[in-house]
Amino acid sequence: MSSFDQTTIERAYQNWAKVYDWLTPIYLLCNEKRLRREAIGSLHLQSGQTVLDVACGTGRNFPLILEKIGPSGRLVGVDYSLAMLARAQERIEHEGWENVELIQGAAARIDLGREFDAALCTLAIGVIPDYRSALDQMVAHLKPGGWLAIGDAKRSSGLYGFAFNWLADLLGYGAAEDMSRRPWESLGEMLGDVHYEEWFSGFFYVSGGRAQNA
Ligand SMILES: C[S@@+](CC[C@H](N)C(=O)[O-])C[C@H]1O[C@@H](n2cnc3c(N)ncnc32)[C@H](O)[C@@H]1O
Repeated sequence: MSSFDQTTIERAYQNWAKVYDWLTPIYLLCNEKRLRREAIGSLHLQSGQTVLDVACGTGRNFPLILEKIGPSGRLVGVDYSLAMLARAQERIEHEGWENVELIQGAAARIDLGREFDAALCTLAIGVIPDYRSALDQMVAHLKPGGWLAIGDAKRSSGLYGFAFNWLADLLGYGAAEDMSRRPWESLGEMLGDVHYEEWFSGFFYVSGGRAQNA
């Protein structure tokens, strides 16, 4: 399954925005909570810290992140899709969060002129067309020693999972996602303390590490 171009992706997420919040838990076959918990847990967040959520979508990571950084922390969400960001804005207003900022932009080209204690990208590294540059930009926005996490669905390389890769590809296709990517393999060149964990026969993973410029 090849990658999608940004125009196709944007069109897909204009539609997804309407149903994303109720369909995602079903679409991920009950693995969403674990994926978010593991990815955010691996960032070692503390009260008052700053976090960059790349391709933040409707902001489904925000509650867990804010639980850890508290009202004195700051969270910035970046996404390409205005429709997804509109949903995130509704969430922010509904919850009354005053320390969350949303920015529209392409992950591979973000230049926010500030550094963060942590950066994450969940369920989107398989979607973003130039995901390697997006990873570079995430690392470039980390403070020395800051943590990065990615988590996504992928093809299985396990014996039993292998037989269901056609289904993974099909579900990925619906979300404009390339399930064949293996972005965690690049993290070793970019970060220290790299970790990787997969589950559900290898159809889901979380990986990450720490900026080495400490
Ligand atoms: C499956 S959603 C994941 C949303 C969110 N991270 C989550 O965990 O629920 C994929 C997101 O990637 C965003 N996206 C796609 N291409 C992008 C790009 N080049 N830069 C930033 N965001 C992008 C889409 O707009 C969409 O919100």
